[in-house]
Amino acid sequence: MAIQFLLFSFLVLLFNNGASSYISSEDLSNSLAEAPSYNNHPNSDEQNIFSVDDYGAKANGSDDSEPCRDAPTALYFYHCRHLKVRNITSKDSQQMHIVFSHCHNVEAVHLTIRAPDWSPNTDGIHLSSTRNMRISNCFIGTGDDCISIVNGSRNVHVDNIVCGPGHGISIGSLGSNNSRAHVSKVHVEKATLIGTDNGVRIKTWQGGHGHAKNIHFEDISMCNVYNPIIINQNYCDSKIPCYQQDSAVAVREVVYKNIRGTSASDISINFNCSSTVPCKYIKLQDISLVSPDSFTSRSSCINVINSTESGSVFPSCNA
Ligand SMILES: *[C@@H]1O[C@H](CO)[C@@H](O)[C@H](O)[C@H]1NC(C)=O
Ligand SMILES: *[C@@H]1O[C@H](CO)[C@@H](O)[C@H](O)[C@H]1NC(C)=O
Ligand SMILES: *[C@@H]1O[C@H](CO)[C@@H](O)[C@H](O)[C@H]1NC(C)=O
Ligand SMILES: *[C@@H]1O[C@H](CO)[C@@H](O)[C@H](O)[C@H]1NC(C)=O
Ligand SMILES: *[C@@H]1O[C@H](CO)[C@@H](O)[C@H](O)[C@H]1NC(C)=O
Ligand SMILES: *[C@@H]1O[C@H](CO)[C@@H](O)[C@H](O)[C@H]1NC(C)=O
Repeated sequence: MAIQFLLFSFLVLLFNNGASSYISSEDLSNSLAEAPSYNNHPNSDEQNIFSVDDYGAKANGSDDSEPCRDAPTALYFYHCRHLKVRNITSKDSQQMHIVFSHCHNVEAVHLTIRAPDWSPNTDGIHLSSTRNMRISNCFIGTGDDCISIVNGSRNVHVDNIVCGPGHGISIGSLGSNNSRAHVSKVHVEKATLIGTDNGVRIKTWQGGHGHAKNIHFEDISMCNVYNPIIINQNYCDSKIPCYQQDSAVAVREVVYKNIRGTSASDISINFNCSSTVPCKYIKLQDISLVSPDSFTSRSSCINVINSTESGSVFPSCNA
């Protein structure tokens, strides 16, 4: 079986075996998971539509007896091939909302994700070792990353996303605990970020290996975002302070094109790269990011080499 659903408490999914989609109350949502090219029916026009009920989706949306800390992901797709996930609403998951792990050729469209901005670790859509994925037309508001893309993911296309509240669209974190990570060919376009902590972010731990490369962020609107454009190669999310290490996950070939709007902080472009493995081949084109009150803002670009700017770039990294 190519599809595995693991579903717990907070999420309520109703299966509606029809074309129309509706949300009958704030706790209820319509869901469909389709596998159109399911192996058993290679020539069938009929799409294989699975009821999530058959995979244990019995939660009623009101059982919060599980402590959140070790709580499971609300909806977990593992090792799926040629999967389409459409028209799902996920509300107030205890931990991550929707995870795709080791999946290939997957489409996630028309997803709505809602959780309060104070709910920790509630990433909206999380990809791990997932390839050839499209995420499109999603509204995501949560307490952690709207979309997070981690190790082993490649050829990911994200478009038409509204994100907020939340921690933005993130590649990473990568390289924790001296691990090796590879993420490449990620294209994010037509996104609007509203009141988020970060806009588009790449975050890696010191001591890691591997790379995050060939990443494009294009046609993005920022509305009062604290760190609109950020690369942090000194990411440290642990109780024990991180120490200086020589190795790092390399960050290179990152394009930021047509990114406009407002920054909630003074620094709207923050490249905090590694001194031993600097960020390389960063392109900035047509950028305009200002703080709403002063109509100005700064960049902080540390350990960035071979970067280029074209069109009108404000704030510039070369200043
Ligand atoms: C998904 O929702 C959209 C918009 O509400 C609707 O047009 C479409 O028919 C729905 N698709 C399915 C497979 O239910
Ligand atoms: C939801 O499930 C929990 C535990 O399974 C149960 O205690 C509760 O009464 C249910 N609530 C509703 C509204 O069905
Ligand atoms: C990173 O992803 C690759 C490809 O899926 C996998 O082989 C490797 O084990 C992963 N590394 C870690 C540290 O999880
Ligand atoms: C880091 O790796 C070490 C050695 O492989 C392991 O013992 C430890 O549990 C890992 N720590 C975390 C936070 O993953
Ligand atoms: C770079 O990131 C580290 C870790 O988050 C932080 O301690 C340091 O102040 C940052 N440097 C700059 C210039 O922002
Ligand atoms: C990249 O930057 C380094 C250090 O500034 C410089 O020596 C090198 O010539 C540059 N390479 C290219 C291809 O621009």
